[in-house]
Amino acid sequence: MMSLLSAQNVSHGYRSFSLLGPARYHPVLEDVSMEIGRGETLALLGRSGCGKSTLARLLIGLETPMHGDIRFEGKPLNNLSQAERLALRCAVQMVFQDSISAVNPRKTVGEIVAEPLRHLTDMTVAQQSQRVVELLESVELCAEDAEKRPATMSGGQLQRVCIARALAPKPALVILDEAVSNLDLLLQIQTLDLLRGLQEKSGLSFLFITHDLRLVERFCSRVMVMDGGRIVEEAAVHGQVRLEHPASKQLQDAILPAWPRGCARPDQPQGAVRQPLIVNV
Ligand SMILES: Nc1ncnc2c1ncn2[C@@H]1O[C@H](COP(=O)(O)OP(=O)(O)O)[C@@H](O)[C@H]1O
Ligand SMILES: [Mg+2]
Repeated sequence: MMSLLSAQNVSHGYRSFSLLGPARYHPVLEDVSMEIGRGETLALLGRSGCGKSTLARLLIGLETPMHGDIRFEGKPLNNLSQAERLALRCAVQMVFQDSISAVNPRKTVGEIVAEPLRHLTDMTVAQQSQRVVELLESVELCAEDAEKRPATMSGGQLQRVCIARALAPKPALVILDEAVSNLDLLLQIQTLDLLRGLQEKSGLSFLFITHDLRLVERFCSRVMVMDGGRIVEEAAVHGQVRLEHPASKQLQDAILPAWPRGCARPDQPQGAVRQPLIVNV
């Protein structure tokens, strides 16, 4: 399977400048290699600050890595023709955690969803409106929502507006950067089920960035664990995932229900199994 998007030995960091001393280099990613194929749902799991969003920005070409390269369909991003660059801008879309700040509050929902159609396609205004309705319906919103302003929508609805916008240019890959983290558990699951349904129809790939192992188990087919800017573990996901690296175990423990360490729950033996995600929608 040819990879859609890949990172090859990517290292990246930031310089901080100070009036008092020399500029310091802060490494963020170290020797990251990964690839995502067509139709797959790959999880990038890691604690806050480990470098997940930085990798996402590099993957979509918002920043250029200091070492190594990012390839789109096998071609390095810094070597794409104009036409290939446009193809990349359509093929890879991103949805962020904070949907409120990801949209212009003065625009209508219809205008927001049509943005990529205006920038990336040569559709007429009538064709755009038609497509906006289809997109809104695909995320279980309705044609009338196109007239609304973001402030009048709930968090879950607004996140679906952002998903509809990401789907507008018919991408091959959508990067979901903590995209459901602000929603309550039920809405998270509904949103992921919706995304999975869209994937079944269109063969779309997802890169699902999260710190929540339960969602990985429910939604993804493969997981990469990142810690301190490195990929420390990779595993296939079939229901419950068994991870070995200490950083992975920490994330596993983080989802145990709150209960003092070293103190066995009355109903479970010491070191009891994780609570499965029991909500079924
Ligand atoms: N533009 C930037 N300038 C300086 N430091 C940054 C910048 N972006 C991210 N960082 C640093 O890189 C590290 C990783 O950040 P990030 O990729 O956002 O992690 P994550 O998404 O896993 O929470 C953090 O220490 C963060 O402070
Ligand atoms: Mg992040």
